[in-house]
Amino acid sequence: MSSVTVRVPAKVNVQLSVGPLRDDGYHDLVNVFHAVSIFDEVVASESETIGVSVTGEWADRVPVDDSNLAVRAARALAKHAGRTYGVDLVIRKAIPVAGGMAGGSADAAGALLACNELWGLGLPREDLMEIGADLGSDVPFALMGGTAVGTGRGERLAPLTTRGAFHWAFAIADGGLSTPTVYAECDRLRAATSSKIPWPEVDPDLMEALRTGDPHGLALHLANDLQPAALALRPSLATTLAAGRAAGALAALVSGSGPTCAFLAADAAHATRLAQALAQTEGTYTAIPTSGPAPGATLL
Ligand code: C5P
Repeated sequence: MSSVTVRVPAKVNVQLSVGPLRDDGYHDLVNVFHAVSIFDEVVASESETIGVSVTGEWADRVPVDDSNLAVRAARALAKHAGRTYGVDLVIRKAIPVAGGMAGGSADAAGALLACNELWGLGLPREDLMEIGADLGSDVPFALMGGTAVGTGRGERLAPLTTRGAFHWAFAIADGGLSTPTVYAECDRLRAATSSKIPWPEVDPDLMEALRTGDPHGLALHLANDLQPAALALRPSLATTLAAGRAAGALAALVSGSGPTCAFLAADAAHATRLAQALAQTEGTYTAIPTSGPAPGATLL
């Protein structure tokens, strides 16, 4: 086998409840992940050494040195296998970079699955998820896909069975936000109030809306504890959220640590109309209609 291609989805968090800061610098979460049909592709080809190049819309924002998450994933997998392997990775980016849609985690997940195949390792997906968890909290979910409840720092996953499809429009902002900076701002805002930070719990009404495929129910229960921090760091996101609501979105929220904003639609045509309206909003680079749940990393 000389070349393998893997397709990996972006995600939105339909519930992101952030608990207290832990001693290891992470936060305990209830993180309800939902994979959507915006995909990066990772092509892995035979090579003597490990290297990466990036093509596509957001290519110039992705590092191509050893800090690249796909490179780190390939190195971690080779180390796990106890061998010196090489691979030439090409990432075709469609997921926004530093957008709160887990694009870097998607590329790491794609590299794990592609190299597992290219190198003939035959590791089960669970093993790849375990290796991926050390690379980033969202990597295991990019391998799993669908809809899932993440606990711990988001890496411990329980899949959820949902009904039908949910339709979304995503407004991609000019420029990204750093995830650690947004978590730190969340901590700072919380420290300024004296109230005790509650232990994160799954919202049963949100679960019911997901199970029954009810977008109106889901709209009432979407929640993101990182949203106030993202808005504090990027006040213009309030305008984007308001524009989507004014255009008729069932609900609007910041996706993960942002700055991408997610808008829930009643159906596919509604999502297309919302994206068209959002594309005209100041500060929005582009707007994309899509749907979920999407499958996790898949060999093409
Ligand atoms: O795990 P990942 O590398 O994607 O996390 C990026 C950063 O986000 C962490 O360094 C940390 O600052 C923050 N984070 C957190 N709690 C989590 C997940 C991420 O504080 N559960």
